[in-house]
Amino acid sequence: QMHPRLPENALVVLIGASGAGKSTLARTWPASQVLSLDALRGTVSDDPGDQSATADAADVLKLILERRMARRLNTVIDATNVQDTVRVELVMTAKKYGVPTVAVVVATPLSLCLQRQQPRPANRRVPDDVARRQHEAMTFSHQSLAREGFTQVLFAHDLNRLELYLRHLSE
Ligand code: GTP
Ligand code: MG
Repeated sequence: QMHPRLPENALVVLIGASGAGKSTLARTWPASQVLSLDALRGTVSDDPGDQSATADAADVLKLILERRMARRLNTVIDATNVQDTVRVELVMTAKKYGVPTVAVVVATPLSLCLQRQQPRPANRRVPDDVARRQHEAMTFSHQSLAREGFTQVLFAHDLNRLELYLRHLSE
């Protein structure tokens, strides 16, 4: 197993601003296990950067998630997930099927997130103020993740180095 600190089959919710490195981290799992909001925007609209396709892409994501949770298959959500309402809905779907939930906070410094926007094509670049708000929301989310019902909360750098900083929380 790639990530021995994680349950074998879980819902893994990546949380971080644009440019934090969520999709890079997501690539350490088999592609079929990763639900990427960007990719699904592309699936429904032919343009992964088309923000007007977000609601449709989110609908598709929820449907696939539901079917995968029913099979108790490990699933990674590659989206910013900085809004508590979005996270709570994901957690509810997993709990419905008794699947453990793991929040992975990708807490890359804002300056680096902004720097990483530069080389991107214009339609994939997130404006600075948007990335800044996402980063603030990521920081703020940290205190409420346990309350939201996540089984485990960990940081991306701990996942990478396989070192402990992981909090086991009662369900
Ligand atoms: P959005 O999809 O916009 O929300 O961003 P993201 O969080 O998915 O970021 P992504 O994984 O696309 O990473 C952005 C850039 O940072 C890419 O060019 C990556 O190659 C680079 N990057 C991500 N993680 C790391 C890392 O750990 N080290 C280094 N050096 N570069 C990284
Ligand atoms: Mg990404």
